[in-house]
Amino acid sequence: MSKGRLSDAELRSLIADVRGKAAAPVEVPAAPEPRSYDTAFETLPGYETLRMQRAAADLLGVASPFFRTHEQRAGAVSRIAGREVINFASYDYLGLNGHPAVAAAAKAAVDEYGTSVSASRLVAGERPFHAALERRLAEVHGVEDAVAFVSGHATNVSAIGQITGPADLILHDALIHSSVITGAQLSGAQRRSFPHNDLDTLEAILTAERDRWQRVLIVVESLYSMDGDIIDLPRLVAIKRRFGAWLMVDEAHGLGVLGPTGRGIAEAAGIDPRQVDIWMGTMSKTLASCGGYIAGPSALVDYLKVTASGFVYSVGMPAPATMAALTALELLIADTDGRVARLQANSRYFLERARAAGLDTGLAQGHAIIPIILGDSLQAVLLSNRLLERGVNVSPIVHPAVPEKSARLRCFVTADHTRDQIDRAVAVIAEERQQLLREAPVAKRLSAAARG
Ligand SMILES: Cc1ncc(COP(=O)(O)O)c(C=O)c1O
Repeated sequence: MSKGRLSDAELRSLIADVRGKAAAPVEVPAAPEPRSYDTAFETLPGYETLRMQRAAADLLGVASPFFRTHEQRAGAVSRIAGREVINFASYDYLGLNGHPAVAAAAKAAVDEYGTSVSASRLVAGERPFHAALERRLAEVHGVEDAVAFVSGHATNVSAIGQITGPADLILHDALIHSSVITGAQLSGAQRRSFPHNDLDTLEAILTAERDRWQRVLIVVESLYSMDGDIIDLPRLVAIKRRFGAWLMVDEAHGLGVLGPTGRGIAEAAGIDPRQVDIWMGTMSKTLASCGGYIAGPSALVDYLKVTASGFVYSVGMPAPATMAALTALELLIADTDGRVARLQANSRYFLERARAAGLDTGLAQGHAIIPIILGDSLQAVLLSNRLLERGVNVSPIVHPAVPEKSARLRCFVTADHTRDQIDRAVAVIAEERQQLLREAPVAKRLSAAARG
C-alpha cells in the first residue's frame, strides 16, 4: 500500500467493519435534563428593586427627577420641558462651557483634525494637542508631567489598578468617588476606608498596619463632591511622609474652585504640590470638556503611558474635547474677568443665605458644592420636583449614592449665577421644604402604602 492510500482489500474490510458497527445496537445516553440558566436581564441583582421603586413612584404620582433633558447649554440657566429654569445642577464651575473662545477652539480643532483621533495614542492616535494639554496641566499643578485619559472615571480605575497590587494597601476616605473603589478592586490590593476626613483613624490604621504592606496608597478628594468640604492637606502630607505612603489627591472638583487663583487645594493650603505624589483631575468640571488626567513625577507619567489599560487600550482624546479643555485651562490661568473670585463669592453667599433660611447644609464650607440635607430619599425627590415646577433645577441625591439618613439636594454654584438667582433659589427651596415637612406624615403613609 502506498503511503496514505488504502488498498482495495483494506477498503472492503474497513467498510464491512463500519457496517458491522452500524448494525450493532447503539447505546444512546439519556438526554440530560435541560438546566435553566439566568439569561433574562430582569434576573440581574437589583432589577426587581428598581421595578418596585418605579411602580411605587407611579402609584404616588412622583415623576422621576433623573434623566431630565436640558434643551440648551446648561449654565446658570437652562431649559427643561420647554421652560427656562435657574440651574444649580451642573458643575460648570467657572461657566466656561460654551464660552466663545472655548467653542471657537473646539470648532477649529474639528476643521483641522476631525472628530476622532481614530486610534490609541500609543499607535496612531498621538496629536500635538495632547502634549500641549498635558504640558499645561502639569504647569498648573506645579509638577513634572501629566497624562490625559478619555474619561475621568477611567483615569482613577486604570491608574490605581495599575500602580498597586496584592502586596499593597489602599486607604481611602469613606466618601471617596466610586471610580477610586473600582480601581482599588481591580488592583487586587487590600482596600480599607477610614471615616470621612478622620485623619486620627487614618494614622491609627497606618501605625498598626504599615509594616505589613509593600506600598501604601492614601486616596482622598480635595473637595468632596457630595458634601462640599475639603481635606486637611498639610496634615495628610505629614502623615504620608511619616509612614512612607503615596498620597493621591482627586482634584475633580478642586481645580478652578479652590485657592486664590483656582489652582486647587495645594494653592489653598499653601503646600508645595510636589509633596503630593499623584494629582488626579477631570476635564468635565471647570474645564468644560470631558476626560481625566494624572499629574505628578515623570516616572509615574511615563509608566502609566505604557501600562495603564485605560490609556494603552483606549482611544486618545479627540481634538474638540482636548482643545476645549486646553482653552478653558488658559482662561482659568489668565482669569481676566475674575471668574474664580466670582465663583468663590457666590459660593459663600449661597451658603450664608441657605443657613440663614434654616436649611441644613451639612458639611458645606462654601466651595461651590452645597448640599441641602433632608434625610429621606422620597423627600429629596419630591422637593426636587416641586422646585422644578417653580423654575429651579436642583438634583436630588438619594440612597444608595448616599446613606438614606443623609439623602439630599446638591446645589452646584457657578461664577455665572447672579445674587438674584441665588436668593430666589434659596427662598424657593426653603418654602417648598417647609411645605413638604407639613405634608410629611401624609407622604410617609402614602409611601408605606406603596411599599406594602
Ligand atoms: C471626585 C470625582 N472623581 C472622578 C470623577 C469621574 O470623572 P468624569 O465624570 O469626568 O469621568 C468624578 C465625576 O463626577 C468625581 O466627582
